[in-house]
Amino acid sequence: GQGIAVVTSGGDSQGMNPSLRAVVRVGLYVGCRIFYIKEGYQGMITGGENIVEATWDSVSSIIHRGGTIIGSARSKEFMTLEGKLKCAKNLVKRGISNLIVIGGDGSLTGARDLRRMWPDLLSQLQKSGEITAEEAQKHHGLRVVGLIGTIDNDFPGTNMTIGADSALHRILEAVNAIASTANSHRRTFILEIMGRHCGYLALKTALTTEADYVFIPEMPPPANWPEDLTKKIHVSSMAGKRLHLIVLAEGATDIDGNPITAVMVRNYAAEKLGLDARITVLGHVQRGGSPSAFDRILGSRSGAAAVFTLMDLRYDEDPAVVAVQGNHMKKLELEQCIQIMNEMKEAIKDKQFDKALSLRGKS
Ligand code: F6P
Repeated sequence: GQGIAVVTSGGDSQGMNPSLRAVVRVGLYVGCRIFYIKEGYQGMITGGENIVEATWDSVSSIIHRGGTIIGSARSKEFMTLEGKLKCAKNLVKRGISNLIVIGGDGSLTGARDLRRMWPDLLSQLQKSGEITAEEAQKHHGLRVVGLIGTIDNDFPGTNMTIGADSALHRILEAVNAIASTANSHRRTFILEIMGRHCGYLALKTALTTEADYVFIPEMPPPANWPEDLTKKIHVSSMAGKRLHLIVLAEGATDIDGNPITAVMVRNYAAEKLGLDARITVLGHVQRGGSPSAFDRILGSRSGAAAVFTLMDLRYDEDPAVVAVQGNHMKKLELEQCIQIMNEMKEAIKDKQFDKALSLRGKS
């Protein structure tokens, strides 16, 4: 059968294991050989024991486990030409011309780059004698399919990234716990939520916890946010609320692009409003724990769709990603998604927030 390598890369997310399980089992079912690449792109560079063949049983009892059993990494070396040459050599030497990457924005951009450079990489390897002309000829094409695994839900073209739902569950568990102590002490909590440049998790947290205020990168607060915040807190105090929740996305800024930090908000709440305020940075708790039912299903469907999408690609075709739209799995062009993603980041940088939001709306 054909060789398919599967790698999980970048920040892990709940649902990577269900995705991996589906890739392995559907791949074996259709007669392919599946190879795990351990430790993300770094394992693809080092090769050796980091590339091992998967079996049906090697993915037993993992659907409920968070993270990724094959390890992940943020590899700097992969960004370099030398790193990519080593990757190409390791894939060719194992007879692999098919790659499934499970990861977020950075990892999928890496996959696009590897595919783009593939012909050059092979000719360089052939020139330096590291692979033979026959090997270069046999592996002239590389089929690449991405699965969008990240808690941030920041990827265009898909309604939900694999892991975002579980992260939200984890956040809600933590906020429920905080709310009981906050309520007892009549305290205000500033909750810092992950998401990098994306406010999805913070916004959904605010909506589902009846927060008093939320800061997200896509919609910076008005320049007079301290007064605005004061008003909101005042109104909810008057309504008899014993606790206040202020949700802060880690990438939040003011209208001029200056970061708004949890310490800044806490100091304002304590010094100007006289509130008993505490900060909770939820951190990697958000990425941990068991995947939700939604992520187990989404991961499984995405994994299966990735294998079928890969089988349908031509060897000279550009990479695809599998996304969920409505309740349907869709094949999208990776390049187009990356372009929208970059436009979105640029729009936020240029303070074109309406444009950024409408680009997000395309997701
Ligand atoms: O992209 C996922 C994510 O958890 C972001 O929300 C966060 O900014 C980042 O990764 C943290 O990265 P690391 O785990 O490398 O500290």
